Amino acid sequence: MAELHIVEHPAIKHRLAVMRDKNTGFRDFREAVSDISLMLCYEATRDLPLRHYQVETPVSRAEVSVIGCEVTAVPILRAGLGMLEGALRLMPSARVGHIGLFRDEQTLEPVDYYRKLPANISQSRVLLLDPMLATGGSASAAIGRIKGCGCENVRLVCIIAAPEGVKKLQSDHPDVEIYAAALDERLNERGYIVPGLGDAGDRIFGTVF
Ligand code: PRP
Ligand code: URA
Repeated sequence: MAELHIVEHPAIKHRLAVMRDKNTGFRDFREAVSDISLMLCYEATRDLPLRHYQVETPVSRAEVSVIGCEVTAVPILRAGLGMLEGALRLMPSARVGHIGLFRDEQTLEPVDYYRKLPANISQSRVLLLDPMLATGGSASAAIGRIKGCGCENVRLVCIIAAPEGVKKLQSDHPDVEIYAAALDERLNERGYIVPGLGDAGDRIFGTVF
């Protein structure tokens, strides 16, 4: 069964406090999303394969290592875009794919509207980015699309997970490890994470006053 990694660090808890506060404006919210994403991606890429070689330092020869595989960051539009900058600060040479999904407000089912993934994604390690894992419908559908392109190495990086979403992912995609900053209590009757942080997309993009 896919492991759920709750990444514990004071700097992560600090950003999460900023994000949960309803009085935080979108500028500070965005900055906290970006920072926390970098830290979560740092943990999610800890075991990337390395390629080793030698360089001449000004003093002597040294063994050095660089990332030895393709990495692709795939934000789920729209809120996942807020995590992209942090992911790319950590992995500047990553490719980027996009998956557009939104959750139908009545059924809570994901609705597909866009997909553009790198051609060679089957040979890449994928970091799927979405701040909220609520029912798990959106992440599960996105992982299905990525696997449909032949990619077998996907990790989900989210900020807040609900137990319902974790359960769904562990059932639909037991090979996909989840990295999150917090596991919250539950979903409310409208499918929002409790206590959560509200609508991540609206808070990142400032679309609700
Ligand atoms: C949010 C969030 C996830 C989804 C999570 O997106 O960013 O994609 O909801 O819910 P789920 O686990 O129940 O599927 P939303 O559908 O609000 O779209 P947006 O990013 O365009 O605002
Ligand atoms: N999507 C969000 O943006 N927030 C939630 O709490 C649940 C789904």
